Amino acid sequence: MRQDIIPADGRLGILIPGLGAVATTFIAGVEAVKKGIAQPIGSLTQMGNIRLGKRTEDRFPKIKEFVPLADLNDIAFGGWDLYEDNVYEAALNAKVLDLPLLQAIKPELEAIKPMKAVFDRSYVSNLDGKNVKTGATKYDLAMQVIEDIERFKLENNCNRVVMVWCGSTEKYIESTDIHSTIELFEAALKNNESLIAPSMIYAYAAIKSGVPFANGAPNLTCDIPALIELAKETNTPIGGKDFKTGQTLMKTILAPGLHARALGVRGWFSTNILGNRDGYVLDHPDNFKTKEVSKLSVLDEIFRPELNPELYGDLYHKVRINYYPPAGDNKESWDNIDIFGWLGYSMQIKINFLCRDSILAAPIVLDLALFLDLAKRSDMSGIQEWLSFYFKSPQTLPQLSPEHDIFKQLMKMQNTLRHIMGEDLITHLGLDYYQELVETL
Ligand SMILES: NC(=O)c1ccc[n+]([C@@H]2O[C@H](COP(=O)([O-])OP(=O)(O)OC[C@H]3O[C@@H](n4cnc5c(N)ncnc54)[C@H](O)[C@@H]3O)[C@@H](O)[C@H]2O)c1
Repeated sequence: MRQDIIPADGRLGILIPGLGAVATTFIAGVEAVKKGIAQPIGSLTQMGNIRLGKRTEDRFPKIKEFVPLADLNDIAFGGWDLYEDNVYEAALNAKVLDLPLLQAIKPELEAIKPMKAVFDRSYVSNLDGKNVKTGATKYDLAMQVIEDIERFKLENNCNRVVMVWCGSTEKYIESTDIHSTIELFEAALKNNESLIAPSMIYAYAAIKSGVPFANGAPNLTCDIPALIELAKETNTPIGGKDFKTGQTLMKTILAPGLHARALGVRGWFSTNILGNRDGYVLDHPDNFKTKEVSKLSVLDEIFRPELNPELYGDLYHKVRINYYPPAGDNKESWDNIDIFGWLGYSMQIKINFLCRDSILAAPIVLDLALFLDLAKRSDMSGIQEWLSFYFKSPQTLPQLSPEHDIFKQLMKMQNTLRHIMGEDLITHLGLDYYQELVETL
């Protein structure tokens, strides 16, 4: 192990704005795993392996045995929500996990009560809770969040904290002048500028405090020059946007395969029904627009129509999400993909994914929290592109285009872990030892 990585000693606080379906499924899951009544399936930090060295060396340690990550028993949870329900009540409302599982960890979940939220209905008009902070300016609200972080750390005896946004999708906004520098951003906080969304206030508070921040929703949040600059200044790792689950996960698994075989794609129609609170929020056109932009970017980046106009130049891509209460958290998605092959002959692929959104999102929250903490202890700051694997719309520097291909994202993540630990990077070339093996025949 590299000598300069700070060990994961002591307790790690995971602070979450938005204690809804994803957050409660995540927290309940970790508590259940700690009790030995469930497995952390879908979490690379807990169950994944990594190859080290040459194939002939046969070294495949578990990731958690390779890199120094916080132990699940050393985690303390906290968060904010505009509804007063504790995590047990919120998990019951979310209806993701079964009652017997929740009852087995009831005391742990009941003990986590949401702090008052920074909330503004003009960003999420379909919600209206009362557990909300008041302050003369957005700057005052940011200072209150900073105090919350400090108090949480003291009360829970944590020596490190990370923050993962699991709050609702806010209405669509674009980066403007007030988001361009720290000075302008802080002035805008003090002037109560309407283009500063609540999620930006949490992100500002975290980054200002040196607390790593990940954004699980498609909101702009920390994807603005002012907060990227602040992250560099305070040595803080950041990442976003929008957890890669469900339909987009499938898309970024399948599309690289079609592209790899140089098969053409004429159309990709994706539709979803979803009945949880997230679906209700996304039923509003302003909030759907934020999600739509995040979901649409994926195919263009994988297929690169400008490089292969004959294969992807006419690709028609459409994404719909419909709120349908009976579906609850069990989102159902349908994809119709019109592809063509040799000599232009048409084919179709149909996908009907009956997924459980929060079951796919919960391990992502865990991995992001643990990896961001590792990044901080390894002196990495700013945008952590190696965590693109977990995001629908990975945050990059403005001059770079994001990588969406899940296999390239995985390779980048694994090579970054090898790099952090001072191991050889793996190029998959293997010519050197192939020759050596041939000679031993
Ligand atoms: N479920 C998934 O698989 C998935 C996948 C990708 C992204 N996401 C995103 O993750 C977020 C959470 O999803 P969910 O299914 O848990 O939704 P949810 O509606 O169950 O939970 C969101 C919670 O955030 C709270 N909230 C909203 N604004 C807040 C604020 N300003 N401060 C504090 N709390 C606030 C809400 O009251 C709610 O309890 C959404 O933005 C969603 O789009 C979810």
